[in-house]
Amino acid sequence: MPGSRPSVSTRAVGLAAMIFMPILAPALATSFTGAIVRGIAASAPTAGPSKATGRLPALGWNTWNAYHCNISESQIVAAANQFVSLGLKDAGYEYVNIDDCWAVETRNATTGQIDPDPTKFPNGISGVADQIHALGLKIGIYSDAGTNTCAEYPGSLGHEEVDAATFAGWGIDYLKYDNCNVPSNWTDAPARPIQFDLCIWGQAEVWTWGARVGHSWRMAFDSSPTWSYIISIITTNVNHLNSIGFYSHNDMDMMEIGNGNLTTEEQRTHFAAWVFLKSPILLGTDMSNLSTDQLAIIKNAELLAFHQDGIFGGPAAPFNATANAPVTSPPEYYSGLSSNGMHVFIINTGNSTATKTFSFANIPGLSGGNYTVHDMWTGQDVPGTFSGQYSVSVAAHDTAAYLITQKP
Ligand code: GLA
Repeated sequence: MPGSRPSVSTRAVGLAAMIFMPILAPALATSFTGAIVRGIAASAPTAGPSKATGRLPALGWNTWNAYHCNISESQIVAAANQFVSLGLKDAGYEYVNIDDCWAVETRNATTGQIDPDPTKFPNGISGVADQIHALGLKIGIYSDAGTNTCAEYPGSLGHEEVDAATFAGWGIDYLKYDNCNVPSNWTDAPARPIQFDLCIWGQAEVWTWGARVGHSWRMAFDSSPTWSYIISIITTNVNHLNSIGFYSHNDMDMMEIGNGNLTTEEQRTHFAAWVFLKSPILLGTDMSNLSTDQLAIIKNAELLAFHQDGIFGGPAAPFNATANAPVTSPPEYYSGLSSNGMHVFIINTGNSTATKTFSFANIPGLSGGNYTVHDMWTGQDVPGTFSGQYSVSVAAHDTAAYLITQKP
């Protein structure tokens, strides 16, 4: 059964995670400049994971939020085909990821491998991988740093080498590595570059050392399709923006667009915040039920371009919008650069429509002068030329997204 979350040895988790990655991908050296290291951080490797993958936050889909343990080849191949048919592949979505419950309950006594459940996966995981690769997409899988996964299927502890080799042999491109049932034990060695996501729920200050182990790491416990979750994870992440950059992403958890009763405005904020904080974006719903509005949100080309920018790896960060801007939690005003220039994102955290105002000169890196304001949601410039301050009415829980360009 999914969901049981035993207490976790964070030290063990970190060690298990760190030994697993060197097996999966021979690391290229990266420097670590953090001043204070203790606990897991002190024992995490100094060389980071493979630089052959994971430079940008992942864009894809994952089975868990949509189906939990009720997964099968057909849903996953359907999702991959929907990436193509819905235009999501063209928009940049790439990873089709299998979460927990893909295996049989005991390891193969002869090979020592974890075998896929033959009912759910009649062609094995490699058969799914072939179909996903044939569509020009990538495939992700799930394992766990402990003896068992969170749903009590076999975990990788003590079997890291065989599992890494198995996943690589199947053609896996991405590994989500969960945190359940971890005692303390390990050993290990290398192969195919696999993007490595530590599903460590924000424990052990993972943002301080996660980049030395993997490409992304969960910042908190599991998401829910609620406004309170969205607000709380943005609030958490905003405290750790320095951890975000190329090959290094705070994971705000898988997307809930299409699940629950989020308003359209809340779904826009969900997507925009994951974009401007450079979180992995893994869709988590049955995509055949996505509405036109939802598809428009997740396919927004300008927001995706910010998320996937090849030059600027950092997130947008809060700024003081005006001299007397109210202090909110999380902050409402963010600015950040992409290859296209300076962007401003404004979340209305309040429960009613409100006018939001920022001064151009308060945006770090900008000064006085005349500006054009381009709305990233509509893809249109706001008519006119602006200077001094800019004001906009933002609906409850919505996020405005702009590209701000200084006029010569
Ligand atoms: C944990 C993880 C979830 C999901 C489940 C699967 O709860 O945090 O994202 O992978 O396990 O059992």
